Amino acid sequence: MPIIQLRCSDTALNFEETGTGIPVVFLHAFPLDCSMWQPQREALSNKYRVLCLDLPGFGGSTVGTKPFTIDGVADGVAEFLDVLAVKEQIVLGGLSMGGYIALAFARRHASRLRALVLANTRGEPDDDTARINRDKMIAFAGEHSAAEVTEMMLPRLLGETTRTTRPEVVESIRSIGSRQTSLAIVAALRALRDRPDAVPGLAAISVPTLVIAGMEDAITTPEIMTRLAQGIPGSKMEVLNQSGHLSNRETPEAFNHALQNFLQGV
Ligand code: MLT
Repeated sequence: MPIIQLRCSDTALNFEETGTGIPVVFLHAFPLDCSMWQPQREALSNKYRVLCLDLPGFGGSTVGTKPFTIDGVADGVAEFLDVLAVKEQIVLGGLSMGGYIALAFARRHASRLRALVLANTRGEPDDDTARINRDKMIAFAGEHSAAEVTEMMLPRLLGETTRTTRPEVVESIRSIGSRQTSLAIVAALRALRDRPDAVPGLAAISVPTLVIAGMEDAITTPEIMTRLAQGIPGSKMEVLNQSGHLSNRETPEAFNHALQNFLQGV
């Protein structure tokens, strides 16, 4: 798989590239890697240039010399585009942690955006309770394997329908999460805990934006997603039935249908 060395953080960034056309860049959720976007790669790569990145420390990417921060990774995505000489505006899609980075990219590199897809994510930063829970998770992740961290998270990462009727999806997420490293997990948890408030920047987003929520998402509930959509002028929102936090894997057909309809308009 190709690797790009980022000057800004000294990270060796791994990515998967398929297809030609308008660039569509996908940023993955925590604690996974770019392989989570496989159903979207397969659905889009006959029409678009699909680029899926492993965020620093995850999948085949290295941790880098600078600390993982949401804004820093957003700048890393811009540098990644520079290195690949992607001059045209991109569609940027992020799910959960990937969505936080996509929102930071929209704030810091607005002129490079053609459209945004924000799935199962939120604009608000962690509140005090969430920050305390992050610290507990950091302590847990420091002493347990990635497989154990993933196992602990699974009940919240996946909706009830998936947990009870889609064992192959549960297994695929377990497998992706288990092959990450504790180092990456701890670094990302710190970045999630300290991420900036994206809410004040939402009104300035002027590109077409699709917000995708899962009806059974316990982490970024449909109410949270509605608030996000309401903050972004002209955004469209889709709520997927029988779908939890990892909506692109839990209900890939519905997710891809919403995505393809949206992309046709941009
Ligand atoms: C994710 O799926 O990326 C995480 O749930 C993000 C978070 O915990 O805030």
